[in-house]
Amino acid sequence: MNILIVYSHPSKKSYTFQILKQLEEIAINKNWHIEVSDLYANNFQSNMTAEEYEREGFADTALPIPQDVAEEHKKIENTDCIIFLYPVWWSDCPAIMKGWFDRVYAVGYAYGQKPGLPKMKMVKYGITICTAGHPNDFLNETGIAQSMQTVMLDDRLGKRFERKEMLILGGTLEIETVRQKHREQINELFIKIADYCS
Ligand SMILES: Cc1cc2nc3c(=O)[nH]c(=O)nc-3n(C[C@H](O)[C@H](O)[C@H](O)COP(=O)(O)O)c2cc1C
Repeated sequence: MNILIVYSHPSKKSYTFQILKQLEEIAINKNWHIEVSDLYANNFQSNMTAEEYEREGFADTALPIPQDVAEEHKKIENTDCIIFLYPVWWSDCPAIMKGWFDRVYAVGYAYGQKPGLPKMKMVKYGITICTAGHPNDFLNETGIAQSMQTVMLDDRLGKRFERKEMLILGGTLEIETVRQKHREQINELFIKIADYCS
């Protein structure tokens, strides 16, 4: 069982980093192979260049795919499950992760496929885990939770995953009131991943 975590947080002092460590610990205990694309630590280039836009904007699949993007494709092809882990910033993922989708979802690979070109595999399980300062009740009542879910699950994960799920770990402004619940939610999620993927 292989898991890829696409992770975006700049600080090891963060709660989101603690969640990353928790995910790694569970996966290691299950003897799963885990790979982390740590976007900040890897200084992942999130901005699309004008040269790349030539390829994307005009669907010119004869142009080359950048090396760092090709490396992300290799990780996707080798995994059974991708977890996107990030803090909610202004009701979405941090810009560096948005840039991952902008660039890694290259035309011909993740959409606009053409015969003869490598095509993104159907990944078994796609999961979004985000930490949020606001409590889940607030995010649900305002429609922000649904909006994030629509964008992440229906569009970004889309039809590229057999099964999809989003876990919003809200209420982090009062962390001690939610920490245990979040732990339990993550443990339950891993039971589902194990049931479905192994
Ligand atoms: C730039 C910025 C924007 C944020 N925007 C939101 C937001 O729109 N909604 C929300 O619930 N929390 C928001 N937060 C709070 C973070 O989601 C929260 O700090 C994070 O989930 C957990 O903290 P961590 O940074 O220690 O991992 C924001 C935090 C920052 C730094």
